[in-house]
Amino acid sequence: MRIVLGVGGGIAAYKVASLLRLFTEAGHDVTVIPTEAATRFVGVATWEALSGHPVSNSVFDAVHTVNHVRLGHEAELIVVAPATADLLARAATGQADDLLTNTLLMAGDCPVLMAPAMHTEMWQHPATQANVETLRSRGVTVLEPASGRLTGADSGPGRLPEPEAIFTAAMALAGASAAEAGESGGAAQPDVDAVLAAGPSAAPLAVRALAGLTVTVSAGGTREPLDPVRFLGNRSSGKQGVALAAAALEAGARVRLLAAHMEVPAPAGVEVVQVETALELRKAALHAAADSDVVIMAAAVADFRPADVSGTKIKKRDDVADPVINLVRNPDILRELVEVRDAASRDQLIVGFAAETGDAGGDVLEYARAKLQRKACDLLVVNQVGRDKVFGEDTNSVVILSRDGSEPQEASGSKSDVAAAVIDRISAELSRAVPPA
Ligand SMILES: Cc1cc2nc3c(=O)[nH]c(=O)nc-3n(C[C@H](O)[C@H](O)[C@H](O)COP(=O)(O)O)c2cc1C
Repeated sequence: MRIVLGVGGGIAAYKVASLLRLFTEAGHDVTVIPTEAATRFVGVATWEALSGHPVSNSVFDAVHTVNHVRLGHEAELIVVAPATADLLARAATGQADDLLTNTLLMAGDCPVLMAPAMHTEMWQHPATQANVETLRSRGVTVLEPASGRLTGADSGPGRLPEPEAIFTAAMALAGASAAEAGESGGAAQPDVDAVLAAGPSAAPLAVRALAGLTVTVSAGGTREPLDPVRFLGNRSSGKQGVALAAAALEAGARVRLLAAHMEVPAPAGVEVVQVETALELRKAALHAAADSDVVIMAAAVADFRPADVSGTKIKKRDDVADPVINLVRNPDILRELVEVRDAASRDQLIVGFAAETGDAGGDVLEYARAKLQRKACDLLVVNQVGRDKVFGEDTNSVVILSRDGSEPQEASGSKSDVAAAVIDRISAELSRAVPPA
């Protein structure tokens, strides 16, 4: 595969030499385009020697080859790492002041992956977040940075994900794009050689079960506003959804995380779409599902929202009666995802989560089976919740129910253990659905 590797002027540029090695050792043909600032961190000689190609950052070098047009047209995948705040801004506003930004504008349908790295303040700045949102809305895959030690003594979100994580995300994106374009005859086939050549990684060096697939996971709890300062929420911490996203990433998938309110950071290497309310989650989920092979709805979504949201803070006054909150029903997102999938005859596995408590009317499994009937999703992961159970805890114990009526499967342990069991079950369901060629 012909890859353009754009390198931004951040301290993490040195780590991209390892990413370049992963690409070349997996047999890809890589042209490196560092920005002017990037060459102050890592010299052109390093990129030329490791890639085996001449390296430039100006459209006025080798003008007879019209480099930016050729590179943009020929690229089958563009990866930008580290994507500096400046590069994100230049790409979002369509600037073309160096070879890399010109190439990005020439790239057409080529999948583009950007791995940002910067100080937390720069990453969280509304300008940077707006640029990221713009790029994502145009189809660019912008990875979430890792959390941890930054350039100085400080730490927080903003670290470049490890080269292996970027490599995996890039291969997953390329596989998903090829499958979308119908180049693999429908089902996405993992690039066996590439995955085997990936070098040390957290996952065993086997062909990863979800390589080439796009997985959307919702996590956390929605917040339904009452007024500008108050909301109705729930106790979900997002830990289980985040563990599922990490397990799907580990399994080689391109992962999109629809993050409602969460108490834990998103795993590095996933694409994050922030949502607040059930209605925002519905919109994001329907949008994301359109190109997802698997949708896992693990977020705790409010069943009801306040009928009226006050534009100003509701005051406590002695001269009027205490306010009464009227609630209206939120849409059933899981059910809607299934309906949209079925109407489009799309090949997609949909997994719901049920947080149930038993009561005098029935036990947890009875309620869960009824829920599976109503929602008609493929798998339902059921956990029993209570004040000290599951929400916010690091462990979980679930039963996986299947629409085909097969034996309920139990899984328990840390939330990562449970996530691994759910992802294993998903890959088993997918391999059953696709007959071997
Ligand atoms: C030591 C040092 C480290 C830097 N690290 C980063 C960084 O990690 N992320 C970032 O966005 N900018 C960083 N910068 C600022 C960029 O180099 C600067 O914004 C530059 O204009 C980026 O140019 P480029 O986007 O064309 O590569 C750093 C600057 C210095 C001097």
